[in-house]
Amino acid sequence: MNLFNIKNKVAVITGGTGVLGSSIAEHLAASGVKIVILGRNQETINEMINSLTGKGYDAIGIAANILDKESLEQTRKKILRQYGKIDILLNAAGGNMPGATIATNQTIFDLSMDAFQTVTDLNLNGTVLPSIVFGEIMAQQKEGIIINFSSMTVERAVTRVVGYSASKAAMENFTRWMAVEMATKFSNKIRVNAIAPGFFIGNQNRNLLTNEDGSYTERGKNIINNTPMKRFGEADELLGAIHFLCSEASQFVTGIVLPIDGGFSAFSGV
Ligand SMILES: NC(=O)c1ccc[n+]([C@@H]2O[C@H](COP(=O)([O-])OP(=O)(O)OC[C@H]3O[C@@H](n4cnc5c(N)ncnc54)[C@H](O)[C@@H]3O)[C@@H](O)[C@H]2O)c1
Repeated sequence: MNLFNIKNKVAVITGGTGVLGSSIAEHLAASGVKIVILGRNQETINEMINSLTGKGYDAIGIAANILDKESLEQTRKKILRQYGKIDILLNAAGGNMPGATIATNQTIFDLSMDAFQTVTDLNLNGTVLPSIVFGEIMAQQKEGIIINFSSMTVERAVTRVVGYSASKAAMENFTRWMAVEMATKFSNKIRVNAIAPGFFIGNQNRNLLTNEDGSYTERGKNIINNTPMKRFGEADELLGAIHFLCSEASQFVTGIVLPIDGGFSAFSGV
């Protein structure tokens, strides 16, 4: 048996047009997985699907709102019509947003509760809802894999990003909760895990970590100083962990959060 064979599985990727989601989609497609990209912008989705199908991969894209159950249920119908099953759900949609971040000249007492709510909706509800809508099919199939996207901001207080951190922390708890729910009530072939990427330069944090000339900001330098490997991660460095969690190689692994962080979470900073 090839422990890492994931050919012909059907994977739904929310945030599939993002920096990490698109790199993962490309890898899974190249491994023979049928890809469903969920995104917000039809044009960006089309570009990505054209690029994947142009390489001979099997992929479709659907514009859907991950915070709207009805939109997700419509999406689920389309996926089942096309592929007849859902094996893998990657909840990659998420992130920080400017309003929910404490600016350098502000304190917690300046926090906008509206922004806090919006970032919580995205990172917590935006994982819970797709897990319910697509997880229901996995419950019927008695088989499936859900992978959530957490962050280093859960274990350690990372200054400024209060709403992002709190919502990712709640999402980690949900990961464990859902893992127990699925294994005890439906099937021990349904597994729910999360990855916790360290610091990867992406659309949401580029301005926080790098200056226009490409040099690191003070915050960027602080992160590197607290990362034993002394560098930021590259999107393709998540692929091995994702592949492992999607495959039989991890068949007794559920409810975990796997850090991919160059040692950040292990380091005391001293
Ligand atoms: N890049 C990093 O360093 C890093 C580190 C830790 C965790 N993460 C997490 O990994 C995931 C992917 O990050 P990324 O760097 O690829 O980010 P990204 O911004 O490139 O991609 C995020 C995707 O989520 C989608 N999205 C945002 N709000 C949405 C909404 N309301 N409805 C539907 N889709 C929405 C965006 O359209 C985008 O495609 C996120 O959950 C992020 O929090 C990223």
